[in-house]
Amino acid sequence: MSIRPLIAGNWKMNGLKGESSEVIRELLAKVSTVANPGCDILICPPALVVNELAALCEGTSISIGGQDCHPNVSGAHTGDISAEMLKDAGASYCIVGHSERRTDHGESNETVKAKAEAAIRAGLIAIVCVGETLEEREGGKTLNVISEQVKNSLPEGATAENTVIAYEPVWAIGTGKTPTPQDVAEVHAHMRAELSALMTDANGVRLLYGGSVKGSNAPELMGLENVDGGLVGGASLTAEDFWPIIETGI
Ligand code: 13P
Repeated sequence: MSIRPLIAGNWKMNGLKGESSEVIRELLAKVSTVANPGCDILICPPALVVNELAALCEGTSISIGGQDCHPNVSGAHTGDISAEMLKDAGASYCIVGHSERRTDHGESNETVKAKAEAAIRAGLIAIVCVGETLEEREGGKTLNVISEQVKNSLPEGATAENTVIAYEPVWAIGTGKTPTPQDVAEVHAHMRAELSALMTDANGVRLLYGGSVKGSNAPELMGLENVDGGLVGGASLTAEDFWPIIETGI
């Protein structure tokens, strides 16, 4: 099955209204020069600008997504945002279980699963993040950790259409370090095999790599078997840095 890659930018807690719109405008100008992009392009900005950026991107090849959502539709959850609200603001994807949320907010696999199910309930595509810490890698536990996370974070009713898995080794995020291409390929093959036991269309699920992806390493990383795109942090913050990464999918 041929998989359409997804090149996604996770802006994390970066960008005020003006500069965010400017980056999107620059990316749209570049995308408009490509007749039929061969990949899906996504930006997940801070929730406050989802509405505005989604309006800018309407009818274009760039989609907008959230970075997190609450499992519930609505209710007494001060400071939280539901998947339905993201959808209403124009989002079409939502990242769940990013390692920064697992660490900063103590999110368990169970919580991540509930959030992914909420994203799907709202009509969003869930991007479920998994990844081992340095200690786990050095202890030879990587594949076990990934198996546990994939198995226990995967939403009920996951399909290749509504779920994406992003492998982001915690020690590679924002550090400039990346696993070797062999290590990435090994984990991705492992995730594919793990998913095959859990869903019928596992061969069509997009498996993203994330962690210090930049223009210089993107061609090699994005070209690996079972790597169907990337989830990019720092290098997605400017059009100049992000465009060469997008080009690996175009
Ligand atoms: P960096 O690309 O900055 O390492 O961040 C990766 C990431 O966490 C994307 O979700």
